[in-house]
Amino acid sequence: MLRNAHILVGICGGIASYKAVELVSQLQQAGALVDVIMTEHAEDFVKPLTFSTMSHRPVYSDLWEATGEAAERHIALAEAAELLAIVPATANTIAKLAHGIADNMLSAVALATQAPLLLAPAMYRDMYTHPATQANLNLLRERGAYIVEPEVGRLASGAIGPGRLPDTEVLLGAMRMVLGQGGDLAGRRVIVTAGGTQEPIDPVRYIGNRSSGKMGYALATEARDRGAHVILISGPVALSAPYGVELRRVETVIQMRDAIHSFITDADVLIMSAAPADFRPARVAAQKIKKDSGEAREREGSGEWSLKLVQNPDILRELAILREDGQPGRHLICVGFAAETHDLMQHAREKLRAKQLDLLVANDVTRSDSGFGTDTNKVLIFHADGAMEDMPVMPKADVAAAIIDRVVSLLGKRVN
Ligand code: PMT
Repeated sequence: MLRNAHILVGICGGIASYKAVELVSQLQQAGALVDVIMTEHAEDFVKPLTFSTMSHRPVYSDLWEATGEAAERHIALAEAAELLAIVPATANTIAKLAHGIADNMLSAVALATQAPLLLAPAMYRDMYTHPATQANLNLLRERGAYIVEPEVGRLASGAIGPGRLPDTEVLLGAMRMVLGQGGDLAGRRVIVTAGGTQEPIDPVRYIGNRSSGKMGYALATEARDRGAHVILISGPVALSAPYGVELRRVETVIQMRDAIHSFITDADVLIMSAAPADFRPARVAAQKIKKDSGEAREREGSGEWSLKLVQNPDILRELAILREDGQPGRHLICVGFAAETHDLMQHAREKLRAKQLDLLVANDVTRSDSGFGTDTNKVLIFHADGAMEDMPVMPKADVAAAIIDRVVSLLGKRVN
């Protein structure tokens, strides 16, 4: 995604410009060709040498000094760019861009380039919320610019409010999303489920499992990077949602099923990497169950307490039945997972068939490099036509890319 992408990073004169150093460094490490353009006032905050050290390339700032070949530099930069990201974008530069003013290298390149424009405004709260800045941002939005909203928090001035530059990870996510707009999932709607569910026993206890959400979040990121509109339906996890995905948080299987159904009609793909609980307590106690209460004292003195469970709906199985009946979602590409501890091949093939999946991704969750909570996964991919692929251990991001490759190929073959 970022490898070999030609990215222009514009730096404006704001205190947050120092945070762009990390961004440029990360882009360079990811293999992007990064050309940094600084405004005159940005150089009051960070020296060009800092950025050129990080980007391994010259830094541009002076529109007027250049003569001869260099005089056309702003045109050359504008034409080569695949993305112009202005981080941080000050109120002054935002105003110039909104009104077509080109009085320095950055604003001249912004006017000359056909590349998508991404702005990460960062400034004092009242400058950001000022109607002039908001009107300028709206104008730029209408023209197709992507605005990464600033975070709300404590600003350099000590004031609290909107104006903080988001973390590098968020900015990188936004850049990857914009670069992926024309990707092989452009125009597609992809639902990804992630994480485990929590089935309440009482207000403080639940039945859950070890899913961290890493596999599902990697899939959502990959689909986003390839141009999809991603709906991420997530159980409770400790991860931040990838930038630009539509997040629906759920806790129980019933909530997960309802959320899927509310998006299914327009979806092209459903990837069920979540680990929904197969059973839930038959009754949820309204108050915390005390260990010496009648509720828990099932066999007095025995120290035992049994919890009555009922089966949860099997979301994929139900969807298979609906699709058979020609209900919404019948053209859906459906990808399931199988988390197995034994007889993996046999169980995987049974699930593929019973849930009528296009693909089933099976992982052996007893391995230390695979399954729940790990950063890597070792999967077997089963296809509806009986084919099976044995994949090597890979980071979950690479497993996600392999799965999305196969989804794209299935979408290409799908008859509507
Ligand atoms: O989140 P991580 O820590 O990264 O871990 C990733 C993972 C191990 C959770 C993931 O790779 C995985 O295997 N997800 C599926 C877990 C699971 O529920 O497997 P299963 O074999 O019990 O279910 C088979 C399929 O049916 C799954 O696609 C599951 O989402 C779906 N299902 C399960 C139960 C249910 N009530 N309804 C369902 O639709």
